[in-house]
Amino acid sequence: MGRITVSVIKADIGSLAGHHVVPDEIKEVAKKSLERAASRGEIIDYYVTNCGDDLELIMTHRRGEDSPEIHELAFKTFKECEKKAKELKLYAAGQDILSDAFSGNLRGMGPGFAELEFEERPADPVVVFMADKTEPGAFNLPLFKVFADPFNTAGLVIDPKMHSGFEFEVLDVVEGKSVILKCPEEMYDLLALIGTTGRYIIRRVYSKSGIPAAAVSTTRLSLIAGRYVGKDDPVAVVRAQAGLPAVGEILEAFAFPHMVAGWMRGSHYGPLMPVSEQDAKCTRFDGPPRVVALGFQVSDGKLLGPADLFNDPAFNRARELCNLIADYMRRHGPFMPHRLGPDEMEYTTLPSVLEKLKDRFR
Ligand code: 13P
Ligand code: 13P
Ligand code: MG
Ligand code: MG
Repeated sequence: MGRITVSVIKADIGSLAGHHVVPDEIKEVAKKSLERAASRGEIIDYYVTNCGDDLELIMTHRRGEDSPEIHELAFKTFKECEKKAKELKLYAAGQDILSDAFSGNLRGMGPGFAELEFEERPADPVVVFMADKTEPGAFNLPLFKVFADPFNTAGLVIDPKMHSGFEFEVLDVVEGKSVILKCPEEMYDLLALIGTTGRYIIRRVYSKSGIPAAAVSTTRLSLIAGRYVGKDDPVAVVRAQAGLPAVGEILEAFAFPHMVAGWMRGSHYGPLMPVSEQDAKCTRFDGPPRVVALGFQVSDGKLLGPADLFNDPAFNRARELCNLIADYMRRHGPFMPHRLGPDEMEYTTLPSVLEKLKDRFR
């Protein structure tokens, strides 16, 4: 046992048939790279998958969060995949690799990452969430529900170990500063921030006794690149049970398909659809946005699983509702509130269209 780190590191390296899926050839390159790293003892275990056009590296190791070795391993893996993606002439090959100059950390380079270091418990269930066609703020609402809403999470009321609540670290992605707010005491302050999903992002959640419970990737590609490069397509790691929310309480928050920013050209609001690994492929209007949940037992650093947690008829109704909302939203065409507001559209190609009209205003 001892301290273990779960690192989920992702990037859009290029995809098949538009911004649709990562082909198997690319996942094979990534698996081989991580297999070599495991045989060298750099990582303990790994699982490679995709959520739509995003390649996902799920790894366990003993090097802690923000480890230069682990970030470099992910970066080199992505670069190898990018090479293959360019050979295959995949769509948007190398999309999320915004810089080639690796200097010890992936921050500001394009790939997204969520990492959680913790003392492995006698049994340690972990849920990894991966989303496509949306942004990190998409996790604000469900994580609030999981860790602060007693109507979602029964344990907040009936489990003495959860009854005192949780602490949320919220990052202001514009200022690059963060604040820690306690729930339930400061719940309304927390909501005053995280309702602004494009700016204030729940980055981490801790129990009141300081146990790390959740981590979210906070990369905002447009803020790094200063232009539209694709949506950030976030990942999150959430620990479950024994003083933390039960797996079922964690998943329950996704039974309500809330509206998120992303979808077509990263420029539209649409419902977040919880799907199986198999159905993590965006089609209609490049969406609707998807989220996958994979459950693992972390066991002496090994990843047992995954369990494909949304691969369950219990989420059919959420998916049906998503399709209904998608029909309704799509009929707005280019109108708000389907299309994002002008602030968020700053980073798309819309301003260059408006620029042309500037001199014609009288
Ligand atoms: P068990 O008694 O099956 O462990 O269930 C407790 C629990 O956490 C329900 O989610
Ligand atoms: P991704 O962010 O998943 O690459 O999608 C980009 C896009 O423009 C979809 O329409
Ligand atoms: Mg893409
Ligand atoms: Mg994507």
